[in-house]
Amino acid sequence: PFPVYNLLRRLTPVRFDESRSTWDVFRYEDVHRILKDPAAFSSVRMLSDKERETILTMDPPRHSQMRALVNKAFTPKIISELEPHIRSITNDLLNAVLDKGAMDMVHDLAVPLPVIVIAELLGVPSKDRDLFKEWSDILVKGPEENTDEAFYQVMAEKGQATEQLNAYFAQIVEQRRLEPQEDLISLLLSAEIEGQKLTDKEILGFSILLLAAGNETTTNLITNAVRILTEKTDVQQQLRHNPELVASFIEEVLRFYPPIQAIGRVAAADIEIGGKSIKKGDQVVSWVASANRDETKFADPETFIIDRKPNAHLSFGFGIHFCLGAPLARLEGQIALRTIIERMGDIRLAADADLTPIQSPFVYGVKHYPVVFQ
Ligand code: HEM
Repeated sequence: PFPVYNLLRRLTPVRFDESRSTWDVFRYEDVHRILKDPAAFSSVRMLSDKERETILTMDPPRHSQMRALVNKAFTPKIISELEPHIRSITNDLLNAVLDKGAMDMVHDLAVPLPVIVIAELLGVPSKDRDLFKEWSDILVKGPEENTDEAFYQVMAEKGQATEQLNAYFAQIVEQRRLEPQEDLISLLLSAEIEGQKLTDKEILGFSILLLAAGNETTTNLITNAVRILTEKTDVQQQLRHNPELVASFIEEVLRFYPPIQAIGRVAAADIEIGGKSIKKGDQVVSWVASANRDETKFADPETFIIDRKPNAHLSFGFGIHFCLGAPLARLEGQIALRTIIERMGDIRLAADADLTPIQSPFVYGVKHYPVVFQ
C-alpha cells in the first residue's frame, strides 16, 4: 500500500471518501495535529460492543481517570521485571523448532509469545495457558478457504471463543476478589476512581481490550521485523554484527511496516484540516502508515535505516491515547529479534512461501511467514 500512500499524500492529502463517508488524512503534520487534539477529535466512536466500554473509545475526563489507573499496571518497573520471563518463553518456543531448520515465524513464535506474556501479566494460572492460547488462536484465525461456509464457520468459532474467554475472566475476577494476588486483575479490583470501584464489566472489558489491542499487533510487529531481515539481507548483517542496534531496529520496523496503519476519530466540532472543512460528527481516519513516510518529516523515508535518529513515527499513536502497551510491545519485539539473531543463522524466506496478507485495511501483516535458517 505504501506507493499509494505516497501518491495520495501528494495529490489529495485530506480527502473525503463518499463510499465510506469518511475523511482520510495522509500527511504527518495533519495526522499529528488530529491525534494531539482530543477536544476537536473525539475517540468516542461506535465500534463493537466490547470496545465501547474501554479507554480506547473514551474522552476526558473519564479517559484521564481510567488511564491514570491502568498506567499503574504498566510502569517501566513492572514491564522490565517481565524481561526474564519473556526471554525464557522465547527460548522455549524456539527450542521446539530449532532442529528443523525451518519454521513458520507467525505460528511458531509471533502468535504464542504475546499471548503467553499477557496471560502472565493478567494472572492467568499456568495450568490454563493452553486453553487461553487456544481461544486466542481462534480469535486471530482467518477462514481456511475462500467460501461462505468457511467464513461462517470461523465467525461461529470466534463468537464461541469470545464467550468462553469472557466466562473465564469473569471467574478469575471472582477468585481475585476473594483472594487478591500480585497481578493486573487484583490491581484493578482494588483501584478506585473518586471513591468508586471499577465495575466487573469494566475490568472484564479492560482485560479483553489488552488481548485485542496487544496480541495481534505484537504478533505483526515480530513478523514484520523478521520480514525486514529476509527482504533486506544487508540489514540482517548489520544487526548480526551489532546486536545492540535491536532497539532502534524495532523502532524503524514500526515506522516502515506499522502493525496498525490507521487510527479513527470523530470530529467534535467544525474544523479545518489541510484547507478542507470537516463538519462536526464526520469520521476522520489518520493514516499513520502514510505519515511515517512523509518526506517533510523523515529524511529518505523509503530507506530502512537501522539506526535512524530521530525517529518520531506515529505507529503507537500520539497524545493522551498513546499506546499503553508500547513499552511491553517494544520489549517483546527486541527480545524476540535478539534471540532469533543469536540462535538462528542466515534466515531466509522459504522458497514456496505464500504470503497472504491479513484481510483488514487497518492491519499490516501476513498470515504465515515460513522461513529457513542455518
Ligand atoms: C492504544 C498500537 C501493542 C494496549 C494504541 C494506539 C495505537 C496502538 C496506534 C492508539 C489508538 C488511538 O489513538 O485511538 C499498538 C501497536 C502495538 C501495540 C502497533 C504493537 C506493536 C499493545 C500492547 C498492549 C496495548 C502489547 C497491551 C498489553 C493498548 C491500549 C491502548 C492502546 C490499552 C488504549 C490507550 C488509550 O486509549 O489511552 N495502541 N499497540 N497495545 N494500546 Fe497498543
